[in-house]
Amino acid sequence: MSTWANLGLQDWSSPLMEQLIFFHDHALLILVMITVLVGYLMFMLFFNSYINRFLLHGQLIEMIWTILPAIILLFIALPSLRLLYLLDEINEPSVTLKSIGHQWFWSYEYSDFNNVEFDSYMIPTNELENDGFRLLDVDNRIVLPMNSQIRILVTAADVIHSWTIPALGVKVDGTPGRLNQTNFFMNRPGLFYGQCSEICGANHSFMPIVIESVPVNNFIKWISN
Ligand code: CUA
Repeated sequence: MSTWANLGLQDWSSPLMEQLIFFHDHALLILVMITVLVGYLMFMLFFNSYINRFLLHGQLIEMIWTILPAIILLFIALPSLRLLYLLDEINEPSVTLKSIGHQWFWSYEYSDFNNVEFDSYMIPTNELENDGFRLLDVDNRIVLPMNSQIRILVTAADVIHSWTIPALGVKVDGTPGRLNQTNFFMNRPGLFYGQCSEICGANHSFMPIVIESVPVNNFIKWISN
């Protein structure tokens, strides 16, 4: 989860989020290089007094400064496309979780396991335990096995919601009448927090998501209860 003074991305807990962070850093590096170069050139324009009355066109330099940015953009576009298709790759999921957005809570179904289903509400501030996270903890957590491919199906019952877990690189809209699919792989145990990220009404801010990532044995114990 995000903690104090964390202005960047959260630490990744899935291979896809790792790739997303690599891509973010790569794009940012290119952006910084362009900004520094253009900034330097613009700054220097204030101080030079080079004027040439007979310079009306320069075919070569215009060719260069048209094609060069296009080539630089390719270095962002190609890794971006690679990541886009990587995010949609489904690799034999071992568990499927269905999450349904409601105003304003999530409900979950484990369709592989006798259709276990439950609602998941945020714990109100006045009922929070001393070690609870305000506006982030829920009464019923999703328990899922670590080191396994997990498929999630997202939909909604009323308006559009969005099932978003930053540490796992997951963000899928839940749309009424549609079933959206994505997948992730958690490479460590722990709690992963997320929030709805589609403006869905008055209590949009109060429908968080909590995943409890546990070893497979513990997951089987939990689901068989
Ligand atoms: Cu549900 Cu915002």
